[in-house]
Amino acid sequence: MSQVTVIVLAAGGGTRMRSKTMKVLHRVGGRTMVGHVLAATRAVAPARVVAVVGHQREAVGAHVRELEPDAVLAVQESQDGTGHAARIAVEALGGSVDGTVVVLTGDTPLLRGESLAAFVADHEAAERAVSILSAEIDDPTGYGRIVRDEEGDVVAIVEQKEADHVQREIREINSGILAFDGAFLGEALAAIRNDNAKGEYYLTDAVGIARDTGLTVGAYCIDDETQTRGANDRAQLAELGRLLNRRILDHWMTEVGVTIMDPDTTWIDSDVVLAPDVTILPGTQLLGATVVAEDAVIGPDTTLEDCEVGAGARVVRTHGQLAVVGDGATVGPYSYLRPGTRLGAAGKIGAFVETKNAVIGDGAKVPHLSYVGDAEIGDGTNIGAGTIVANYDGVAKHRTVVGKHARTGSNNTFVAPVTIGDGASTGAGTVVRSDVPAGALAVSAGPQRDIEGWVARRRPGTAQAEAAAAARGATDEAAYPGAADTGHDVENEPADGQPPLS
Ligand code: UD1
Ligand code: CA
Repeated sequence: MSQVTVIVLAAGGGTRMRSKTMKVLHRVGGRTMVGHVLAATRAVAPARVVAVVGHQREAVGAHVRELEPDAVLAVQESQDGTGHAARIAVEALGGSVDGTVVVLTGDTPLLRGESLAAFVADHEAAERAVSILSAEIDDPTGYGRIVRDEEGDVVAIVEQKEADHVQREIREINSGILAFDGAFLGEALAAIRNDNAKGEYYLTDAVGIARDTGLTVGAYCIDDETQTRGANDRAQLAELGRLLNRRILDHWMTEVGVTIMDPDTTWIDSDVVLAPDVTILPGTQLLGATVVAEDAVIGPDTTLEDCEVGAGARVVRTHGQLAVVGDGATVGPYSYLRPGTRLGAAGKIGAFVETKNAVIGDGAKVPHLSYVGDAEIGDGTNIGAGTIVANYDGVAKHRTVVGKHARTGSNNTFVAPVTIGDGASTGAGTVVRSDVPAGALAVSAGPQRDIEGWVARRRPGTAQAEAAAAARGATDEAAYPGAADTGHDVENEPADGQPPLS
């Protein structure tokens, strides 16, 4: 392949999206549409990439530069047509381009790199002045038609508005992806005029110009027309997303050996990486840069964004973001892994547990109904059910460190900053406000006191009082003489309506 320059046209407004976001910045499969196009162009190893920007040039330009730091941005002030846009791109490159120039639009996210490479190879092998990536479609309305002569050679592209009745019947269309000999492109752009129905400079006129000057032109008709489809509105965007998703799922199933139980309810973004023998259960979305190692089972009903799941791990009905799950670990059901969660090998984050900035060691367990934030939990430690890490004092976040092989009781609160030593224990209901030494048992609840007869005195005649009396085998009066007398006082008895204090 000779030196390839890529021009991406992305100046148009895309008003049919009815969006404050530019069309090419809308996402499918976890990338923007223009992001997919730029990814496909890498297959031709372009020496230079020029993006023509106009509407929302700051947002589009910044996004292109993020993906292709060396991209040249060419600003088209008013959208006077694809020929005008290409001219501005060539001017941004100094006015002339050697080698092959590929022009494409920023809204065809399904284009595959290998298709683009095959198209460019065909263009160069045939030594054409211009080649068209064409496709045969059922409803060609709106597209430029590929007009061929009796020999079947391409003569011109005729735009919808210019086409006569016979030409409108042609089902082979211009995808909008064109390849040029650079020297010819420069000449053609100078020759293209705007005396047409739309008053625009049509880049497609270059085909007729080449033909008229005796140069070779041709079309490379792609088998899979979906690759050339653009999205003009959100319904088309959703359809392209569905097609792209199905392509991604097919890749993982057939080429890698991933089990996907229900492709209709499974969504996997383009940049996700899965290992062989991963199993994905229904209702699962793997998004962003998520990576799943072999034999892991994900789902059902799980969403993981930018997560890393280790080999053989099990993640059930979980929502995770920027979290790491170790080999053989288990998560869920109903777990919420927030950014900075790192669960060690064979560790456990169980039902109704939320974690954030939490490093949970190998074999460590947070099995039930807990919040663990800004914390480090050592290897082999078990956190009791219903534990809350109080990491926020209303002003700042503080860290909690629990050592190795600790056993903390149910319904604890760890008031950060606090450290619980290796091998320490805490009693049920402990509020840990100060550091617990290694091997110590921390308890903070006072001894239990039973205020005898409280119900009979304070709740006489209620079902509660009757149940208590029945258990005592006597009436209230017999069990506690004078119980109904509200003047009767008991030392430290809590006020009416408040539970007895411990
Ligand atoms: C164009 C082609 C048509 C082809 C179709 C495929 C021309 C004249 N026609 O028609 O043959 O079948 O695409 O979708 O090329 N753009 C700019 N600056 C402009 C004009 C357009 O950057 O001044 C960009 C748009 O943002 C868009 C692309 O070029 O991404 C195509 O422009 P559009 O006006 O949509 O062309 P079509 O009428 O669809
Ligand atoms: Ca279009």
